[in-house]
Amino acid sequence: MSATSYSAYWESPSNIALVKYWGKYGEQLPCNPSISFTLNQALSKTSVTATTKTNASTLEFDFEFEGQANAAFADKMRPFLQRLSEDMPWMLQYHLNIQSSNTFPHSSGIASSASAYSALALCFCSLHEQISGQALDMFFQTASHYARIGSGSACRSVYGGFNLWGTCNELPDSANEYAINIDDLVHPVFKHFQDTILIVERGKKSVSSTAGHALLKQHPFAEKRFNIAQQQTGQLLGILKSGDLAAFIQLVESEAYMLHAMMMTSSTPFMLMKPNTLAIIEKIIEHRNKTGLHVLFTLDAGANVHVLYPEAEKAAILPWIQSELVGYCQNELYFCNEVGKGPQSK
Ligand code: PMV
Repeated sequence: MSATSYSAYWESPSNIALVKYWGKYGEQLPCNPSISFTLNQALSKTSVTATTKTNASTLEFDFEFEGQANAAFADKMRPFLQRLSEDMPWMLQYHLNIQSSNTFPHSSGIASSASAYSALALCFCSLHEQISGQALDMFFQTASHYARIGSGSACRSVYGGFNLWGTCNELPDSANEYAINIDDLVHPVFKHFQDTILIVERGKKSVSSTAGHALLKQHPFAEKRFNIAQQQTGQLLGILKSGDLAAFIQLVESEAYMLHAMMMTSSTPFMLMKPNTLAIIEKIIEHRNKTGLHVLFTLDAGANVHVLYPEAEKAAILPWIQSELVGYCQNELYFCNEVGKGPQSK
C-alpha cells in the first residue's frame, strides 16, 4: 500500500505583553490575565508533513530547524507533541516531519517560544481538519488552547492585533485556557503601534521563564502581584479604548518594572536587566520629558528593551533611537516591528 501524506504550513509571529503573565498553575494556566500585541516581523515559519507509517502506536517525528536536524529542540518539543497526541490520536499513525525557521536570529533574545508554539499548534489544527475531514468549530481558539500548552504566552500569538489571555471581570468571554482577540475594543492610536526591539544581550537567558514562573509559587509578594495585574488588566482595557497615551505609558512601564521586581525579590533572586538596559530606560524617560513625545519602554524576561511609540511619531522617534540608543545594543542589533496582522498559512 502506498503511503499517504498530509501537509500544513503556518507562519506565526511573536508578541509583546503589556500586562505581564508571570506565574502559572495546573497545565500552564495563568495566575493573572495578560494583554499583548502581536508583532509583524518576528515570525516562525513552520511546516508539518504527516506520512502514514506501519507502527501506529508511538509518537515518531523528526525536527529540522533552519534546515538542520536539531535534537535539543526536538527533545524540548516531545512532551508537547505527546500531550497533543492524547487529543489527536491520529498523530500516532503518521510519521511527522517538522521543519521550522525564524525570521530573526534564534539567539537574539527575542521570545521565540511564542512564535514557535503558535505556528506548531496551528499546523496540527490544520492537519487535524484534513485527516479527520471535519472543520474545527473554533479553529483559532483551539489553536490558542494548544499553543498555550507549549508555551503560555504563545496562546496570544494566534491572532493579530491586541489579545487578552486569562479570566478577567471586564470580559465574560475571557478564559484561562485560551486567548481572545480584543481589537474591537482598541482605539485607532494603538492600531499601528511601533515596537523597536533593542538587543542588549544575545544568547540564552541566565534563568529560563519556566524557572522564573516556578519561583512565584513561594514568592512573598505573589498574591499581591496577581491582584495588581488583575486591576491593571481592567485599567489597560479602559486605556486601550479611550486612547489615553499618558495613562498607557504609566501603566505599561509599571508592568515592566514590576515583572523585574518580582524576579529580584524571589526566594532565589535573579536580575535579567543589564547596565545597558538601565541606560536605555533612563534615556527614554529623559527624552520623553524633554520633548513630550509618547515614547515608552517595556521589557520581556530578559535584558532587551522594547521601545514603543505611536506610528504618528515614528518620523521623530526612530531616527533618535538609531542615533542615541542603538549604540547600547550588542553589535548594534535592533529589530523594527509594529502591531501585526497575525499568523498566515500559505
Ligand atoms: O510563555 P512563557 O512561559 O515563556 O512566559 C513568558 C512570560 C513573559 O514573557 C515574561 C511575559 C508575557 O506575558 O509574555
